[in-house]
Order: sequence, then C-alpha cells, then structure tokens
Amino acid sequence: MKTIWITGASSGIGEALAYKYSQEGWHVILSARRADVLAEVASRCAQPEQCTVVPIDLADTQSIDRAADEVLAKFDHIDVLVNNGGISQRSLVEETPVDIDRRIMQVDYFSGVQLTKRVLPLMLKNGGGHIVAISSIVGVFGFPQRSAYSAAKHAIHGFYETVWAELHDRGINTTIVCPGRILTNVSLHALTKDGTEHGVMDHAQKNGISAETCAKKIFKAVKRRKKEIYVCRMDVLMCYFHRYARWIYYKLVSKVKPN
Ligand SMILES: NC(=O)c1ccc[n+]([C@@H]2O[C@H](COP(=O)([O-])OP(=O)(O)OC[C@H]3O[C@@H](n4cnc5c(N)ncnc54)[C@H](OP(=O)(O)O)[C@@H]3O)[C@@H](O)[C@H]2O)c1
Repeated sequence: MKTIWITGASSGIGEALAYKYSQEGWHVILSARRADVLAEVASRCAQPEQCTVVPIDLADTQSIDRAADEVLAKFDHIDVLVNNGGISQRSLVEETPVDIDRRIMQVDYFSGVQLTKRVLPLMLKNGGGHIVAISSIVGVFGFPQRSAYSAAKHAIHGFYETVWAELHDRGINTTIVCPGRILTNVSLHALTKDGTEHGVMDHAQKNGISAETCAKKIFKAVKRRKKEIYVCRMDVLMCYFHRYARWIYYKLVSKVKPN
C-alpha cells in the first residue's frame, strides 16, 4: 500500500487531499496542530484504519523533528510528501514587524524544507518518491498585503525546482501547486500586522474553487508527474501578464483590492 504524508490535513486543501488519497486506497499520514480535528478527518476518510495522525507545529522546528522521528520510526516507505500546511497574511509592508515575516517564512517555507530533508533519505533509499509543495499564484507575482506570504511562496519555487534538478535522476519527483482562490478557511487564519488572525472570510475566497476540485487536480498532477500546476480561474491571467506583459501586471496590481 502506498503512503502519503500530508501537512495541513485538518482543513481545506489538505483535508480534501486526505479524503481523495484514502478513497484511492492509500495510507494517509495526517499532520497539523489540532490532533482532535485530524482524528475527525481520519474518521471521515474512506479507510480510517489506514490513517495515522501525527500532530505537528510547523512554526516549531523541534515539533517538526519530533513528527519526522515518529513517522520515520513507523513507516519504511513514504511515497508522497505534501508540504501543504500554511498561513496567509493581511498586512502592509510598512506596518508589519519583521517577526511576522519570519513566522510566515517559517510556517510556509522553512517547515517544508525541514520535512523534505528529513524524508528524502528514506525516499532515496527506496529508489524514489514525490514531494508536493503548495505554493500560490502569489508565488509567481507580488500582491498587496501579502509581502511575507508571497515571498515564502516564491522561495518554494526556487527550492523545489532545485530538488528536482539535483535528484530527479535518483527517482525524486516534485510538483509545485499554484492555487488561485480556493474556498477554504485560509483568509480567516491569515495573520495581520499584530499577529492576530484576520478572522474574515474574504469575498474572493468565498467564491473560490472548491477544495475537493483542487485536491482532484493535485492527485492527477502527481500521477502524471507534472512539475508545476495552476489551480485557478481568471486569476491565472496575472501570472501570464507577469511573465509576458509585465507593464499590464504593474498597472493591475497597483489598482487591485487585495481581499
Ligand atoms: N485557499 C486558497 O485560496 C489558497 C491559495 C493559494 C495557496 N493556498 C495554500 O494552500 C495551503 C493550504 O491552505 P488552505 O487554503 O487549505 O487553508 P486552511 O483551510 O486554513 O488550512 C491550513 C492548514 O494548515 C495548517 N496549519 C496552519 N498553521 C500551522 C502550523 N503552525 N503548524 C501545523 N499546521 C498548520 C492548519 O491546521 P491547524 O490549524 O490544525 O494547525 C490547516 O490544516 C496553504 O499553504 C496555503 O497557503 C491556499
């Protein structure tokens, strides 16, 4: 039986991925901070007996190491690692203390780097594996009130493309996922300038693509070993403008309402 380890599995995209992979007959390792919620998600999976809950705090490097120790002691193979758990941001550059930038970089970027480095030796020993990193379309371009979040998501691209470049010939695949607006709790938990949660379901979020649709697209992309996918509607246009007509991107981003 194949095994997938998903962080951020207590909610949104990670939760939907847990249901999808369980339905497909995989053993699912579910990680996030809230162990009680993870246990509920596991109980709703198609094969609850093939689910393992491993709590983790991605803001805490020791917690990440403890979770990795537990997973590596229990499993002799991990086929897919999904670095999905994360937090967004709703604060302007000039009002955001650097501690908030560091916290977002830790949760959204460094935690995935640490987990990747812990899991890679096992994957390499077993002849390969697949690492999925959930970026964002703001991992492609900058966006108001998302400075640290956008920076963390940009960093993901540099890191996982390099993982692929160095290790694909030893069986390691990577998929970077760039969602646009997905209907999850992400805006509710986004950090504001003082580190409190934004607490608002943003309008654009409410009208986003469902987490289930997003999970299906990720499942398909991993199966086909796609290196990068966009799960978007019209918001994908900003990526094209940013790449091919930068002046349009600058014009639009200067006028855009962030939420
Ligand atoms: N929704 C969108 O529109 C969208 C767009 C682009 C990218 N994304 C990305 O998609 C990923 C999943 O987000 P989502 O939209 O599904 O949001 P969500 O519903 O808020 O889920 C976020 C998940 O991350 C976990 N998490 C947050 N902080 C954590 C920490 N310190 N330690 C461990 N787990 C933590 C949460 O679990 P606990 O609270 O239980 O710890 C939760 O399971 C994120 O990386 C996000 O940046 C989302």
